[in-house]
Amino acid sequence: MKEALKRQFENVKPGDVGIVGRPVQHSLSPAMHNAAFQTWDGVFRDKHGATPRYHLFDVNRDELNELLDGARTCAMRGLNITVPHKVAAASMVTRLDRFAARVGAINTIAATSDGWVGYNTDGTGFENAIAHKLEFDPREKKAVVLGAGGTGRLIVTKLLEMGAESVFWWNRTSEKIREAIDSKPAEYSRITAVTDDQLKSAVAGADLIVNATSVGLSDTDEMPAPGIAFQARHKVFDVIYHRQTKFLQTARAAGAHAEDGLEMLLYQGAKAFEIWTATPAPIEVMREALVKSLKKV
Ligand code: ATR
Repeated sequence: MKEALKRQFENVKPGDVGIVGRPVQHSLSPAMHNAAFQTWDGVFRDKHGATPRYHLFDVNRDELNELLDGARTCAMRGLNITVPHKVAAASMVTRLDRFAARVGAINTIAATSDGWVGYNTDGTGFENAIAHKLEFDPREKKAVVLGAGGTGRLIVTKLLEMGAESVFWWNRTSEKIREAIDSKPAEYSRITAVTDDQLKSAVAGADLIVNATSVGLSDTDEMPAPGIAFQARHKVFDVIYHRQTKFLQTARAAGAHAEDGLEMLLYQGAKAFEIWTATPAPIEVMREALVKSLKKV
């Protein structure tokens, strides 16, 4: 193992966790998980006799396999995987859970006796966020999803799994959607690809509208797509959680119920914690830590 990689394991103890990505320096996950482990320690002492710690691992694609091997050697209990390694890591684990296999990307791995098992808890995060914050059940409902990157694909897959009647899928680069649908025609049969011109009527007929693009990350960003006219009856969800985006502002101005992505982040973390510890996550502690560290960003 290269020195630079070895150095990242310097303070790692058996039972610890962490996040692997590039960049990871600004991740809010350490605050959320370290707060949870502090509480957990009071309830249920770790078998190693210490409170687990959450570490940051900044690696490129070529180092990923070695990093996962190193984490196993150190007897880490698990890891979060983030951009840009979610797809690559899915091919490096011993086994994928059902939803992760369907999405083809993972954000969490957990140690088992025969190797790493890969999960995608972003799906659980989205499911909980729309249930708790928007009070929305997609069964037999129509949704519009903007964006066909990793997050867009994940959300579309989750909405179909949750029983959405139809999903109208838009992306700036429309070929990406065609390719995605062509690669899974049976699974994606309830998806309709929409062009810029068709988006207006898809939005008019939808119950839920989701922004899964990266538009809104910067405070100068405008709307992610053309011709979106929100109505007061719409439920609106933006995966971005750093700020009130133009998308959210416009939806709220129209009287729609609109929520940002903070609960999605929270519940993906809570699910990862539960996978790693087999203990219910201290949601309120984790939410408080997230909100506090978000204020510092
Ligand atoms: P993630 O993993 O967060 O989904 P990603 O895979 O890089 O990130 O995807 C980013 C998404 O934001 C894509 O849908 C991208 O559209 P393209 O496929 O056309 O690139 C979308 N996106 C980024 N910038 C955009 C912009 N200025 N307008 C509209 N969509 C944009």
